Amino acid sequence: MTQAPTVPSTRPGSDWPVADEALPSHWLLRLVYYARLAPSTHNTQPWKFVIGRRTIDVIADESRWLRVSDPYRRELYISLGCAIESLRIAADFAGSATEVSYFPIPQDATLVARVEVDGAGSRRDSAVPELLPHLATRRTSHRKFDPTRAVTDEDRRAIYTCFDSPELALHFITDRAALDRLAELEFLADRELFADLAYRSELAVSVGEGFLGTSWLASKLGQFAVSMLPVGRQVAQSDAQRVSSAPLAALLSTRHDRALDQVHVGEAYMRIALAAESRQLRMQPISQVLELPETRVQVAAAAELDDRFAQHLFRLGHALPETEERRRRPLKDLVLRADL
Ligand SMILES: Cc1cc2nc3c(=O)[nH]c(=O)nc-3n(C[C@H](O)[C@H](O)[C@H](O)COP(=O)(O)O)c2cc1C
Repeated sequence: MTQAPTVPSTRPGSDWPVADEALPSHWLLRLVYYARLAPSTHNTQPWKFVIGRRTIDVIADESRWLRVSDPYRRELYISLGCAIESLRIAADFAGSATEVSYFPIPQDATLVARVEVDGAGSRRDSAVPELLPHLATRRTSHRKFDPTRAVTDEDRRAIYTCFDSPELALHFITDRAALDRLAELEFLADRELFADLAYRSELAVSVGEGFLGTSWLASKLGQFAVSMLPVGRQVAQSDAQRVSSAPLAALLSTRHDRALDQVHVGEAYMRIALAAESRQLRMQPISQVLELPETRVQVAAAAELDDRFAQHLFRLGHALPETEERRRRPLKDLVLRADL
């Protein structure tokens, strides 16, 4: 019989940042508490967790998959990658090593990762625990970025070096012509997507559920506008403007285009988002342009990716902090089983 692992009962209480609901006292539940703060497409939070004695399974909740805008599940897996990395950052903060098996059961594509948590092991690197407080404050920025404040070389270096994976590459796009081309492609993608009733219906549900962080009334009005009014052109113009006015766009690319690559993209994006937050830089993904196969290929060409795959595009810059809070599902709804 194997001995129960020595896990920290939790790191001393007071320095764990509290985000929304009360912090659970069991440390494995606490890791899930932070995982659920990760960003996700349309704030779908498409994850569930099973907690074992020393493992946490991260499971794709297919009922929350956006079948129309994300038919190949790329954004679903990126979102899950964000949650996995958040969970590991919380474990690092607790002083615990983690080991991840990705898709450990080949016939089960919903079991995305089994994270082994070993309280006795060592952390991944010393910089990671410092990221945890930013998990509680990070938000996607929908604001206009300040055109007079550049993203410095030092910022770029910090972001560039905050993840390390041979399969992934991060491309910075600052050239005005390339940014304008991305803005044009985003405009075209928005126009085409908004012409599709199924796309608008799916988006309207997310808006109605409050994914933009607006009040109940504004969410319901937004839901009505997206499903019933001809807002496509206006949305397309405003999205394109966001891209062309950003001081910097960044693109994560991969050599292959498998679910596993997309999970790794999510992990990297999570690290980047927290490193950016620690430097008071704001970020916003720009997804529509990658949701259509034609414009996705054109983005890869505009960024000169050669034969790599464009996976996740986002803008970076300076803006006031976001005030709208995008709600998270309560922990009790996310944990399918806990063997504590
Ligand atoms: C794969 C992925 C795609 C996203 N695409 C967009 C996007 O196109 N536009 C946008 O404003 N936010 C996008 N987001 C951000 C989510 O809307 C956001 O994470 C979610 O609403 C929760 O809000 P928060 O990040 O402020 O906590 C995306 C996030 C992920 C993980």
